[in-house]
Amino acid sequence: MHQYHIAVIVGSLREASLNRKLADAMAEMAPLDFIFKQINIGDLPLYNQDADAHPSEPVKRLKADIKASQGLLFVTPEYNRSIPGVLKNAIDHASRPYGDSAWQGKPAGVIGVSIGAIGTALAQQHLRNILAYLDVPTLGQPEAFIHLIEGFFDEDGKVNPGSKKFIQTWMDSYVAWVRTYAV
Ligand code: FNR
Repeated sequence: MHQYHIAVIVGSLREASLNRKLADAMAEMAPLDFIFKQINIGDLPLYNQDADAHPSEPVKRLKADIKASQGLLFVTPEYNRSIPGVLKNAIDHASRPYGDSAWQGKPAGVIGVSIGAIGTALAQQHLRNILAYLDVPTLGQPEAFIHLIEGFFDEDGKVNPGSKKFIQTWMDSYVAWVRTYAV
């Protein structure tokens, strides 16, 4: 069976991250030929162009993980109406050196959960801007701006049935998108 390896990039380093919880829950909503791997971005140094010629091990590992994938899934919080710095740092690392971006052409989905009313909408919009520049074909619809309400996750970290139905619809579109555009 052909498998699709999906690099999952969570934009939060927090131990109890809601977005990581969402990423974990979503991995179980995909078909069996989709293999999700969360990429560690917490040990990356701050991006410094001087280091392009001598990338550190975490940077080499990040680029290898992204290059080995057939699709990308970004699950990110919103920080101050944009994406968290740790996520931008990871994106910048894997985009360089010039001409050797790991992101190019990988089909992607963008989703996020927030305690705020707009449910990461602005962070996602900023992320789409970056991904467009990096030539990453990103699923446009449906959009999923998830506002965390009481009972969204149950005690086992599973999404409640009503919300799960919506996220499953998103996942089905994402899976079709990756199948269409994966190279
Ligand atoms: C936030 N939070 C937040 N929420 C939001 O909806 N819009 C925002 O602009 C911000 N800004 C922001 C900045 C910073 C520095 C922090 C630490 C937090 C709140 C955010 O949604 C909440 O902390 C989430 O729980 C973060 O996601 P994780 O870490 O749970 O995945």
